[in-house]
Amino acid sequence: MAVTLSAAVAPRLPGRADQFDGCLLTRAGFAAPSGVMSCHDRGRQTRPEPVCAACPDRAPGAQVLRPRTAPWLRPWSVKVQTIVPRLDTLQIPTLPSRQIGRTAMITTALTEMFGLQHPIVLGPMGGVSGGRLAAAVSNAGGLGLVGGGYGDPAWLNAELACVRDSTSAPWGVGLITWSCEPEILALALRYRPHAVLLSFGDPRLYAAAIHQAGCKLICQVQDLEGAALAREAGADLIVAQGTEAGGHGGLLATMPLVPTVVDAVAPIPVIAAGGIADGRGLAAALMLGAQGALIGTRFCATPEALGHDEGKQRIVAAQAGQTGRTRVFDIVRGYHWPTPYTGRALQNRFTRQWHGHEDALAGQLANEKAAYAAAAQAADFDTALVWAGEAAGLIHSVEPATNLVAQISAQAQAQLDKAGQWLRRGSA
Ligand SMILES: Cc1cc2nc3c(=O)[nH]c(=O)nc-3n(C[C@H](O)[C@H](O)[C@H](O)COP(=O)(O)O)c2cc1C
Repeated sequence: MAVTLSAAVAPRLPGRADQFDGCLLTRAGFAAPSGVMSCHDRGRQTRPEPVCAACPDRAPGAQVLRPRTAPWLRPWSVKVQTIVPRLDTLQIPTLPSRQIGRTAMITTALTEMFGLQHPIVLGPMGGVSGGRLAAAVSNAGGLGLVGGGYGDPAWLNAELACVRDSTSAPWGVGLITWSCEPEILALALRYRPHAVLLSFGDPRLYAAAIHQAGCKLICQVQDLEGAALAREAGADLIVAQGTEAGGHGGLLATMPLVPTVVDAVAPIPVIAAGGIADGRGLAAALMLGAQGALIGTRFCATPEALGHDEGKQRIVAAQAGQTGRTRVFDIVRGYHWPTPYTGRALQNRFTRQWHGHEDALAGQLANEKAAYAAAAQAADFDTALVWAGEAAGLIHSVEPATNLVAQISAQAQAQLDKAGQWLRRGSA
């Protein structure tokens, strides 16, 4: 029996029917789900059995049709073999983790929203998260976000074309809200990302355009005021970014910030960011009520990341206590960041000389600017900046991003298993 779903209906599949998108988009690389489906459409919901072209437990003989393009954006059709009872009559276990064969997979609102294999999002790191790194994370089953930074159109065109052409899995782009112009957002949307992350500023101005393009809106926030704005903007996901994070951020630490934001914005799903570099951090984020982790610094030390090898090696060599929040790199580079935000970077000769003496630096800007630019050009990281978070102390090697996604997820699963064993069962 053939069933055709229009693009207009597909994005609105409610509740756990989001799995439909997931099965469709990520694991199958846009392959339409096959096998048993339930229908009660328009509302008739449509939910596939978790069986698709790329699933390990694909049903023998299951038939798969590949839609021509991203189903959120254009019409597509799927062929269904059998119809099973309505979704609301099915027994669907509520899980943090679901069993596929012998491998437990972590299933959260994040994985279901995008059809990810792992609840891991690549931080949209300006100058680091190019198309290659974003595609590597997406192809590994996470959500890769290109770091649009200050919105250089030539750079964006190159990197967004790269990610679009390198993966058929969901991906997105991050923009710095206070510096973003409407034309830059329009440029990014022309590449048809699945998500746009806005950080550092009021997202309400751009929310409608993002949603109209069929994208999920992700807002990264540093405090409750930011969370309230994100909620008002209609954010689909909110990233609570703790001060441990590399790059720009705020003052509040991840551990208290995440549950505070979770409580404040429920039922909007929250992702934790800041200080997470391995599966222990991801498991902890889930325990705080987050639906996944957005990870930046750990992905800086990958071959796919943009940036100088020496900078990557400095992250590998750094201890957690060797990063700090400062404005000196923004001052010397001429970026006028709004007051609440500072940038966390590796400490070096430049921070030791100028941090705490910002007025003096501003007074000698002409000379220092030229010297800084020369140092950055020469990859002299005693002067030039390496953005990195406190998680640098957990990074001991440069690893391919693909391996990292699988390793972090597997380690989180092991941690969650272990945590389950701490509970004494059967006692009164
Ligand atoms: C090198 C680097 C560049 C970053 N650039 C951006 C950026 O352009 N936009 C943004 O929203 N966040 C940026 N961030 C912050 C990340 O989005 C994320 O919040 C952070 O990396 C998470 O913390 P972690 O570094 O401890 O993993 C950057 C972070 C780093 C390390």
